[in-house]
Amino acid sequence: MITDFLGKCAVLTGAGSGFGLECARVAARLGMSVVLADVQADALDEAEAELRAAGADVLARRTDVASAADMEALARAVQDRFGAPHFVFNNAGVGTGGLVWENSVAEWEWVLGVNLWGVIHGVRLFTPMMLAAARADPGWRGHVVNTASMAGLLTPPNMGIYNTGKHAVVALTETLYQDLRLVTSQVGASVLCPHFVPTAITRSGRNRPAALAGQARTRSQVVGEAMSERAVRSGRISAAEVAQMVFDAVAQDRFYIYSHPKVMAAVQARAEAIVRGSNPADPFGERPELGEQLRAALRQG
Ligand SMILES: NC(=O)c1ccc[n+]([C@@H]2O[C@H](COP(=O)([O-])OP(=O)(O)OC[C@H]3O[C@@H](n4cnc5c(N)ncnc54)[C@H](O)[C@@H]3O)[C@@H](O)[C@H]2O)c1
Repeated sequence: MITDFLGKCAVLTGAGSGFGLECARVAARLGMSVVLADVQADALDEAEAELRAAGADVLARRTDVASAADMEALARAVQDRFGAPHFVFNNAGVGTGGLVWENSVAEWEWVLGVNLWGVIHGVRLFTPMMLAAARADPGWRGHVVNTASMAGLLTPPNMGIYNTGKHAVVALTETLYQDLRLVTSQVGASVLCPHFVPTAITRSGRNRPAALAGQARTRSQVVGEAMSERAVRSGRISAAEVAQMVFDAVAQDRFYIYSHPKVMAAVQARAEAIVRGSNPADPFGERPELGEQLRAALRQG
């Protein structure tokens, strides 16, 4: 639990846009120094300029979170400049869609590389730094927040890679929470599980690696991405509101951070089906017309 953020250090991945940028803005407003990491250089430059103009002490580093070497270099740079970070937001992520047998190996590697390995690297590199700082000072407090998704608690169809990575982030973060409790009460962990929120996530293709550039999209991928675009665009909670929820949760040492608590009814239905051993429920129970549209689009031709 961190209750006083002033003068502390925040590390944020995916800081060039969406939740990463909004959390960096909150951190700067609270008087934290901010470390911005993002793979997209122009977005990173803009975020850096904005936060410097706002008076924050900023370290910005182009980083591919999927790369062990990039993340190790980031961790070294943070240690050299600020020492152990107090707030680590392992948040960079990309979206993709499509029937789960149609995604290529390169696509699996890209999305799991960012969404899962990015979090793994953040946890394996920053947690030991935080634990060392906590051992050296009983008053030291730190908190790790990993970004998953409601797709980490549900299994919506036609987006299997994304679901797989996000479920893994939930499992990793719950385990991190438990492991931390074994060794310290000074460092906490939370998992952010947003539902649809308007950000640039549906334009994740802008950072697709070159290896994927020439690959044709299958019908299910095109249909899935169009549906995600509509859903994300129609989201009524803003990324700025989600960022505030993140800081509130850190200040209260709350583990699960939900942007849309109403969606928990679907999580409950899933958990009950698991406990009963009944088959997975219709994911479009609340919106049957969406299921009809998707089935119709995928069965055409
Ligand atoms: N927006 C939503 O509806 C929603 C819902 C659930 C979960 N999420 C998750 O929230 C997180 C943030 O996404 P967002 O919605 O703010 O989208 P966004 O596209 O606005 O921001 C994501 C940022 O991550 C960066 N990024 C992409 N690949 C990277 C890489 N390899 N290394 C470093 N940075 C990289 C992008 O450049 C971008 O700045 C993601 O993990 C996403 O899966 C978003």
